Amino acid sequence: MCEPKHFTVEYTINPWMDPSQPVSTELAVKEWTELADTYRRWGHQVEFIQPQPGLPDMVFAANSGTVIDGRVLGARFRAPQRAAEADHYRRWFLDHGYRDVTMPTKTNEAEGDFTWTGEVLLAGTGFRTDPGAHAEAQEILGVPVISLQLVDPRYYHLDTALCVLQEATSDRRAHVAYYPEAFSPGSQRVLYRLFPDAIVANAADAECLGLNAVSDGRNVAIPMEATHLADQLINHGYDPTFLDISELRKSGGGPKCCTMELRG
Ligand code: ARG
Repeated sequence: MCEPKHFTVEYTINPWMDPSQPVSTELAVKEWTELADTYRRWGHQVEFIQPQPGLPDMVFAANSGTVIDGRVLGARFRAPQRAAEADHYRRWFLDHGYRDVTMPTKTNEAEGDFTWTGEVLLAGTGFRTDPGAHAEAQEILGVPVISLQLVDPRYYHLDTALCVLQEATSDRRAHVAYYPEAFSPGSQRVLYRLFPDAIVANAADAECLGLNAVSDGRNVAIPMEATHLADQLINHGYDPTFLDISELRKSGGGPKCCTMELRG
C-alpha cells in the first residue's frame, strides 16, 4: 500500500476524475489508514511503499504489479501522468528480495485489469491494458489467462467491475461477484460459463465502486454504500467491513485499487 500523502485530482484519465471538484488529501489519508488498519485487524501483514510528490495516483498500488507465486510482472501505464509510478514499484520489489521481476512491453495496469482466481488470471481490456499484455502475462507468469472486454468507461479497469471473493481450490471453482453490464455480451457469456454461481451486482452497487472490494475469503472490505451487494455477501456467509472511500472515489478508486496483493 502507498499512503495518499500527495493525493489530488489534477488531471482526468477516467470519468470519475473532475479536477474542479474539491478533494481533501487529509481525509483521503484517513480513509486509507482505515483500510490498512482493517487488513491488520483481519490478521494480514501490510507492506508500504514511500509515496512520491508529483504522483497523485500512486496510492493506487494495485496498478503497479501482478504477483503470483513470488513472480512479479510490473506495470506500464497508459497515461503519461502515471508512467513514473511503475519504476518506483519495480525498485520496491528489488529492494524487498523479489528476484523474478519483469517489466511489460505492452500497456499493462496490473491488478487494475488482472484478477487472480487461484486457477486462472482474468484479464480486462478495452480502456487501459492492451490485449497484447494478456498474452505477455500468460508467458511471464505462466498462468492461463482469460481475456474479458470492458465496455463502460466508468468501469475502465476490471477491478471496478469484478472481484474474487474466494479463490478456487482443487475441488471448487472460485467464487466471484461482478456487474455484468460492464462487460461485452461475449464476455458476459464467458463469465456466466466460468462462474454460474457468482453474486451478480446491480447498477447501484457498481456506481459506488462496490465491486472494487477486497476479500480474504471470509472478510470483505467494501465501500459502505454498496448495501445490496453487502446483503448478498452476508447471505453467502461473508463478513463485510464497510469503508468510507469518498475522497479516493473522486479519482475512480476504492479499496482494491489501493491494494496490491503479494502472493508468495
Ligand atoms: N485515477 C486512477 C486512474 O485512473 C485510479 C486508478 C484506480 N485503480 C484501480 N485499480 N482501478 O488510473
